[in-house]
Amino acid sequence: MADKPSFFITTPIYYVNAAPHLGTAYCTMLCDVQARYRRAVGYDVKFLTGMDEHGEKVAEAAQQHGFATPQEWCDSQAPLFKDLWQKLEISNDDFIRTTEPRQNHAVQYLWERMRESGYLYKGSYDGWYCVPEETYFTENQVKKSDEERGTKGEHLCPDCGRPLERVQEESYFFKLSAFQDKLLALYDERPDFVQPAFRMNEVRSFVEGGLTDLSVSRTSFDWGIKVPFDEKHVTYVWFDALLNYMTSVGYGVDSDEARAELAYRWPAQYHVVGKDIIRFHCVIWPAMLMAAGLPITHTVFGHGFLLTKGEKMSKSKGNGMKPADLVKIFGVDAYRYYFMSDVQFGHDGNISMERMVQVYNADLANTWGNLCSRVFNMTNKYFDGKVPPVPADAAECVANPMLPIVEQLYVKYDACMSQVDFTGAAAAVQELAGRVNLYVEESAPWNLAKKEETQGDLAAVIYNALEAIRIIALYMAPFMPNTSAEVFRRLSLGDVEAVTDIEAATAWGKLPAGNTVTVGDPLFPRLNMDEIDLDAE
Ligand code: MSP
Repeated sequence: MADKPSFFITTPIYYVNAAPHLGTAYCTMLCDVQARYRRAVGYDVKFLTGMDEHGEKVAEAAQQHGFATPQEWCDSQAPLFKDLWQKLEISNDDFIRTTEPRQNHAVQYLWERMRESGYLYKGSYDGWYCVPEETYFTENQVKKSDEERGTKGEHLCPDCGRPLERVQEESYFFKLSAFQDKLLALYDERPDFVQPAFRMNEVRSFVEGGLTDLSVSRTSFDWGIKVPFDEKHVTYVWFDALLNYMTSVGYGVDSDEARAELAYRWPAQYHVVGKDIIRFHCVIWPAMLMAAGLPITHTVFGHGFLLTKGEKMSKSKGNGMKPADLVKIFGVDAYRYYFMSDVQFGHDGNISMERMVQVYNADLANTWGNLCSRVFNMTNKYFDGKVPPVPADAAECVANPMLPIVEQLYVKYDACMSQVDFTGAAAAVQELAGRVNLYVEESAPWNLAKKEETQGDLAAVIYNALEAIRIIALYMAPFMPNTSAEVFRRLSLGDVEAVTDIEAATAWGKLPAGNTVTVGDPLFPRLNMDEIDLDAE
């Protein structure tokens, strides 16, 4: 804990029913870019991700894969998630697994608080359950959707269309219906609670349509956290999973340290989730928090789906490209850059290998990478690989067209980044990179180098271009941490990740003259679609 403001950001915790894929990696990367940006503007960031290990879906996956227990299955999968996040330079501060003792403790603590709150009662559930979605549906919801679909009597999930399971059992219920007005009041008071704004409308009309009480325990299977006062019941997987966010910051732990951490970290600033699980986060979760007398998360950001040829990619359809394959072809930074800059946040995004190659070549090989190569090479050639000092009179001879762009860039970039508009932020930085490339073209250092009287101008041009590169590297760092660190190394500068005031750091003129500049290999060698071997191991 520090004297800085806290910024607590979370990904959903991922079901352990198969290996992580592009969709889960997308959400985790979104959070990572946001976490890195927030660190760079001075927040004390806590970035949480993890695995959702309970529930029927995971128990079934364990069985299908021939594991003796769901726990062994989850243990075998945890390294896949952790390794991929490491490979993708995900800078999470915590990785929670819902089978950890800390989660068990927090969930059981919550059960006791719920019992005291009066929002819990025992009854019996008779309805439908979708295992792949881990969601309950009433007879009416199923009937209505079957009629709409023309599949009367088949009992398919209204959300995903897969067959439902009939559930008839004793259950504890959470009085969700008591929260309709309170939730609507929350949405009115805090219009930013759900973003982008159009998702708020979906949430609001769902709640206006009426809420039914939620079955929050099961007796027909046992892969879950036991209800502390009635051990034949296990916790409904979502009632358990949502609490992970608070477990991670000390909820229910009886120590001064934990209480201080909770007070500092909670409520979280952002839960970033896919649009399919917005309702859980914007209806059930705030109602649970209200019932337990706890503050509510500032903002739930709902992102769209990644689609390939218009279809949602999914593990079950097997139409997903694998994150590790893309890393092999493009490198981690370019992979991150493509998904963050080309998929408009909040909307579904069609992704394709062709488009990835196109963005890679245009933005990275031809613009950002090419700029570094050219300018580093010229520094080597004309100034012995040292940042040239700019003679006092040269600044007047060489106008600096980058300056007005740089002066406005922080405000633009910051506005975009704080709204998770990474497309806008990346475009603003690319505009500067494009301008520097053009500047080099226009000022033709190779001609200036030919004459004695233009040596001062030559120094100014090279200095300006190098300084712009330093600034671009700072702004690109949340997207492409490795490349920015490498550019900083080549400019003999310090640790780009240590920056905590990016506005001050990107002020013009901070690059020290005399620093050694290393040319190095091209940062982004051009790629040719025809030469990419998609099946390479
Ligand atoms: N375990 C729950 C979340 C509990 S959070 C308290 C869950 N897990 S999940 O593994 O099924 O999905 C996790 C996230 O991945 C969701 O936000 C979902 O939207 C996202 N994605 C899964 N496929 C996706 C795409 N094809 N594209 C983008 N994200 C998608 O739900």
